[in-house]
Amino acid sequence: MSLRSNILDLRKRKQEVQKGGGDEAIEKQAQMGKLTARERILAILDENSFHEYDLFVEHTARDFGMETKVLHGDGVIIGTGTIFNKPVCIFAQDFTVAGGSLGQMHARKITKIMDHALKMRVPLIGINDSGGARIQEGVNSLAGYGEIFFRNTLASGVIPQISVILGPCAGGAVYSPALTDFVFVVENISKMFITGPSVIKSVLGEDISMEELGGARVHAEITGNAHFYAMSEMECFDQIKSLISYIPWNNKEKAQAVPPKLPKKGKGIDKLVPADPRIPYDMREIIKSITDGSEFLEIMEHFAPNIIIGFGRLEGETVGFVANQPLVLAGVLDCDSSDKAARFIRYCDSFNIPIVTLEDLPGYLPGVDQEHAGVIRHGAKILYAYSEATVPKVTVILRKAYGGGYIAMNSRHLRADFVFAWPGAEIAVMGPEGAANIVFRKEIMEAEDPEAMRQQKIQEYKEKFANPYVAAAKGYIDEVIEPAETRHRILHALKVSKNKSVFLPDKKHGIPPF
Ligand code: HXC
Repeated sequence: MSLRSNILDLRKRKQEVQKGGGDEAIEKQAQMGKLTARERILAILDENSFHEYDLFVEHTARDFGMETKVLHGDGVIIGTGTIFNKPVCIFAQDFTVAGGSLGQMHARKITKIMDHALKMRVPLIGINDSGGARIQEGVNSLAGYGEIFFRNTLASGVIPQISVILGPCAGGAVYSPALTDFVFVVENISKMFITGPSVIKSVLGEDISMEELGGARVHAEITGNAHFYAMSEMECFDQIKSLISYIPWNNKEKAQAVPPKLPKKGKGIDKLVPADPRIPYDMREIIKSITDGSEFLEIMEHFAPNIIIGFGRLEGETVGFVANQPLVLAGVLDCDSSDKAARFIRYCDSFNIPIVTLEDLPGYLPGVDQEHAGVIRHGAKILYAYSEATVPKVTVILRKAYGGGYIAMNSRHLRADFVFAWPGAEIAVMGPEGAANIVFRKEIMEAEDPEAMRQQKIQEYKEKFANPYVAAAKGYIDEVIEPAETRHRILHALKVSKNKSVFLPDKKHGIPPF
């Protein structure tokens, strides 16, 4: 054959494979509002930057009629490309080919691109749309997942791993995302579960829809498996790009700095926080009054909203924010908010992102539910994560810092580099009312006018302990600052911490309260 006919033959072969599961299957997916696997990759990457590998890989299964089945690309597309002109590795499962199920060769394609990502130290983006282990391939499918999980773990903390759930994902198809850093879901399209409705029906005899079992909202609000929630695939892809703009390409780099901007002119930070500690306010407004351009990328917005985590920039450089949210449960720490913050702190620490903590909380949430849900174990995660983190760590106490909350939210004692407090801050073992009732119970009960005595004791306690000056006198906080100085003081603290270097005892790894 001539070169020309060879080229035509190649093009024909490519066209054939690129059809995936065929027009009918693609149409079925489109009716559900889904893009094809290839369209998804092209929509995420820079224009004309995608290069595909292993297009002609075929499955090798020989049981249950598989020997006669053609599965184009074995149901997954892998390749490299760029985002913001920087290299990334990517794969996308194709539900039109055997439900995107994972057989031996499908898994080999994914592990090949994972190996590239780790070797080249570039982010890995995985688009998951799969019924899990391919049933016909038995243990070979399970082995494939094992190989993926191992690599997810190996790459954890070295390169960013981003998972996008864009279809009904079952079994192994959800455990790999769970091992990655960020999981994106889309309303109506994303479903995640270990065992699907049909298994639940046959084992437990219960009817449940895929949506109720593991739809996008379920994972964004209830389980905490999803970090970003979008209404459409295109919105989701914008979210991915936004996230990527804030994070470094690997753990040896810093996030790319952008031109600095001032926060937008607003109400003024000193007017945003009510003086009365019982009146709530939206901590997001405080964050936005500090960050460049008042921009803030919130992560896990709908899960455990009593704590806020996310990225902003200060003078062009990425900063991770951890902040109590007084609007929800007065900003208490509980099992879920501790998990949420602890994991984010570890992410920032792994990827050289300084952490700014904004504190206003009455402590850990009391109650049988929390105790039985394991608040001791979960709450300990945040203590561990802050203590272990060696990136620059700055804390600002805005109002309340009571009890365990004071210690947990990046206190000096867990090795914050700088701790500032506003003049109205109350740093104490507990709120003045609770403290007075316990410490002065006898005096209050025996007084002629118990209520007047209670108020007097509350006042006494407030004057003695519920202010920032006792902690300032001990050097536990470095400076009591005016609210309007907050951005400036944080910026300076981060500037002088740029070359921070901490020596930790030699160990293989710690044993966090997972
Ligand atoms: C082989 C599969 C498959 C699988 C789907 N298909 N899942 N083929 N192995 N695991 C095929 C279907 O046979 C069908 O093929 C096509 O994909 C589309 O599937 P439908 O069922 O028609 O689609 P839908 O109604 O949208 O339902 C999607 C689904 C359902 C919820 C994912 O297919 C399902 O429940 N699949 C099985 C899920 C599962 O239990 N997987 C194994 C998990 S165990 P045709 O030819 O008809 O188009 C696992 C082990 C890892 O993953 C454990 C890790 C710790």
